[in-house]
Amino acid sequence: MGSWHLGQGRRSWEDEKSALLTGLQQGMTVIDTAEMYGDGLSEELIGDALRDWPSLQPQPFLVSKVLPMNASRKGVLRAFEQSRQRLGVDCIDLYLLHWRGHTPLAETVAAFEELKAQGKIRHWGVSNFDTDDMQELWQVPQGRNCVVNQVLYNISSRGIEYELLPWCAEHGVAVMAYCPLGHGELIGEPLLQEIGDRHGVSGTAVALAWAMRSGQVLAIPESGSAKHVQDNASALRLKLTQQDLADIDAAWPAPRYKQPLDIL
Ligand SMILES: NC(=O)c1ccc[n+]([C@@H]2O[C@H](COP(=O)([O-])OP(=O)(O)OC[C@H]3O[C@@H](n4cnc5c(N)ncnc54)[C@H](OP(=O)(O)O)[C@@H]3O)[C@@H](O)[C@H]2O)c1
Repeated sequence: MGSWHLGQGRRSWEDEKSALLTGLQQGMTVIDTAEMYGDGLSEELIGDALRDWPSLQPQPFLVSKVLPMNASRKGVLRAFEQSRQRLGVDCIDLYLLHWRGHTPLAETVAAFEELKAQGKIRHWGVSNFDTDDMQELWQVPQGRNCVVNQVLYNISSRGIEYELLPWCAEHGVAVMAYCPLGHGELIGEPLLQEIGDRHGVSGTAVALAWAMRSGQVLAIPESGSAKHVQDNASALRLKLTQQDLADIDAAWPAPRYKQPLDIL
């Protein structure tokens, strides 16, 4: 589950907490956030929701991100501590560099490795890195410990399939698809709805199952509505057929050449 706009008054705090808790109950066990989202309000909402999540249940896998302007060693350690406190946890499962800035990658990677050695994060990764950025990261000391690249990917934005996605697969880097519903633009899309009707699920579930069809990509849809989260969770049980995939390819063809990474 994504959380960019959560905790910022689009819906009530309690409704958005309930949406997150519904997702956890439905098996959506990864929650993505960032220090940037609502200046920490998204992390606070998630922290509040986690206090209502039974401690005996499996705990969610938490992802947060440091802003490029905080990507120096000192900045990472300080930003991490603030995120950790807002989330109310001892350890953040996955910590990402939100996008590339001016700090040398080697310094940010060293800070991530320091947090990992102290048991404060389990893994680290990057976001909005194109293939050339990944290649550069691979030359940095310990840069190959990166486990995730979080990038924009959905049915109407398939550019990464040409080069970045195969590169990540080859190098053991999982891809997290942000804006898997096109930042809301794919909602109500007639073809997705038609395919959803064949399976008795919503069109959003089709878009999400499509993004995750390779097993290498994790989609992180955002919703502040428990009802929408339930629709989205059905993607976890949806297996698209060859016909479904062919219909999608016909409407939104796969890329035939390298395209620059889409960024929101
Ligand atoms: N790393 C990065 O640079 C980066 C950039 C952008 C996003 N992200 C992450 O990716 C997450 C997802 O991206 P996103 O929020 O931009 O867009 P998205 O998940 O593609 O779309 C979210 C929109 O879809 C609506 N929606 C979700 N499920 C729905 C359903 N079943 N029926 C109807 N409407 C539904 C939501 O509204 P409702 O609340 O009304 O359901 C919301 O307006 C973010 O929250 C964030 O965690 C990361």
